[in-house]
Amino acid sequence: MDSKGLSLKGSLPLLLLLVSNLLLCKSVASLPVCPSGAANCQVSLRDLFDRAVILSHYIHNLSSEMFNEFDKRYAQGKGFFTKTINSCHTSSLPTPDDKEQAQQTKVQPGVKENEVYSVWSGLPSLQMADEDTRLFAFYNLLHCLRRDSNKIDNYLKLLKCRLIYNNNC
Ligand SMILES: *[C@@H]1O[C@H](CO)[C@@H](O)[C@H](O)[C@H]1NC(C)=O
Repeated sequence: MDSKGLSLKGSLPLLLLLVSNLLLCKSVASLPVCPSGAANCQVSLRDLFDRAVILSHYIHNLSSEMFNEFDKRYAQGKGFFTKTINSCHTSSLPTPDDKEQAQQTKVQPGVKENEVYSVWSGLPSLQMADEDTRLFAFYNLLHCLRRDSNKIDNYLKLLKCRLIYNNNC
């Protein structure tokens, strides 16, 4: 039996579970929000941002590692990368293209902009019988996770710089 496609089907969800557990154990546990037993503790906005930035950096790092690993194992010579252009379901969300645009974006705490949601409908493609179609679906998902986690990481750092350091960083 060809075990490549089969084992992939079973191991990716496991990998994702492992990653989320790693996140919980490694970063969150080593950064207690409050002293243990504290009934009523307050965390400064700066501390919250510090934690969020560490986590988002870590999530982006893991996403990149997963993408690289998948690419190495399952995508060699398949030309998947050229098919990923504008292929993320999150591409339709309006986000700044670069640092300059992001810096000009207005931040208005408490004011909700017109909310735009983007629904992911890729589950059936992860379950396709055709191996290459299925592999590309996983490849694309990991590509998008890496791309989006990078954006989140960058915007969070920018926001921290703006709100905590008044743009002096
Ligand atoms: C992720 O972080 C580790 C440890 O800092 C580093 O060695 C590795 O190169 C990073 N991976 C990527 C893809 O940036």
